[in-house]
Amino acid sequence: MDGNDNLSTETKIKLPEGFLLGAASSAYQVEGNNLNADWWKFEQEGRLPKSGDACDHYNRYEEDFGIARDLGMNAFRISIEWSRIEPLENQWNSVAVEHYRKVLKRMKELGLNRMVTLHHFTLPQWLAERGGFENKEGVEAFARFAWFVAHNLGEEIDLWATINEPEVYVGGGYHQGKWPPFKRSLSLAFRVEKNLVEAHKAAYRAIKEALPGAQVGIVKNNVYYEPYRKGNPLDRAAVFLADYFGNHYFLRKVKNQTDFIGLNYYFYDRIKLELNKVREMNFNFAQNRPEHDQVPRSDMGWRTFPEGIYHLLTDLKKYGKPIYVTENGIANARDDMRKDFVSEHLYWISEAIKNGADVRGYYYWSLTDNYEWADGFGPRFGLVEIDYQSQARKVRESAAVFKEIKS
Ligand code: FCB
Repeated sequence: MDGNDNLSTETKIKLPEGFLLGAASSAYQVEGNNLNADWWKFEQEGRLPKSGDACDHYNRYEEDFGIARDLGMNAFRISIEWSRIEPLENQWNSVAVEHYRKVLKRMKELGLNRMVTLHHFTLPQWLAERGGFENKEGVEAFARFAWFVAHNLGEEIDLWATINEPEVYVGGGYHQGKWPPFKRSLSLAFRVEKNLVEAHKAAYRAIKEALPGAQVGIVKNNVYYEPYRKGNPLDRAAVFLADYFGNHYFLRKVKNQTDFIGLNYYFYDRIKLELNKVREMNFNFAQNRPEHDQVPRSDMGWRTFPEGIYHLLTDLKKYGKPIYVTENGIANARDDMRKDFVSEHLYWISEAIKNGADVRGYYYWSLTDNYEWADGFGPRFGLVEIDYQSQARKVRESAAVFKEIKS
């Protein structure tokens, strides 16, 4: 914040006409009972926390989208669970298609612009058994799925996101080995990353073939990096490499096959390059070193740094595409940081817009608390608190920020 006047942050935020303001979710994290997904199988084997009914959003979507509308939102990003639509290879489940049609129609009735992600970390179990995106078969299967959704639900989708956070998926499943399929191999990680590039492009083409006017984008998890020691050449080189590979590799590969860029912003890392860490291929950087700085941290231990989004958005201008902030949020059970978190990020977004970034929307992660992958139900990201015993929804105070910003 500039801090030179007494205006509240909310008052200083100027968003363009038609700006989309909403929340994001993913099917697996909220719906419950995605029995045919790879994650589900590992949960039953005790390798992951059980997602069970999750937020029972599959049955309670009307209530949830109603809350979104009442909070003043005009947009929402959901994902369609591939393993529901295609539970077995090439067998398409019409009940699931009709379910998502109802969901999407309801969103429209409530005045919510609909962004739909096609791959948000989970795979149908049948495809996972064949190696998922380790093989070209995964690429082809994804394009076929995209084509199917475009043909069957296309007229109910306003914005398309092919793949959510390719590097987070690859990192979790193939480098850190903490997510399905629990592998740790750099060569495999590179192969999957490359296949995800191909998968995005193939899905992009498939959707455009069915719906030439569709707006199809990619959702990238860019991190704002700074050198830990400002003038240190090693740290600066590490920042350059992390930015080059982590933030821009994928975008450069798909820049001619993407209509917009989705930015998920959670991380600000100050990189200190230590040669012993390089040998271990341990690039977790400064993330867990409390001595590094005083910036506030969420319940996940993630540091919050709103200004970082300004730098990332400004940097993304070079692609010449519209940008949506497809995720940004904080785990904060006490709800004492969330309101400022949202308004400060929106302030820096509005500054980036002033500086020429074509930002068209912001989706808070998430409307409700939900299943935070390997961290289970502990982290509380929601604008709405979920009581997992009763499935009751309770709007947190911070959620009022959306109305304040709009008015
Ligand atoms: C992002 C994921 C999303 C959620 C948030 C907290 O990396 O896309 O599913 O888990 O982090």
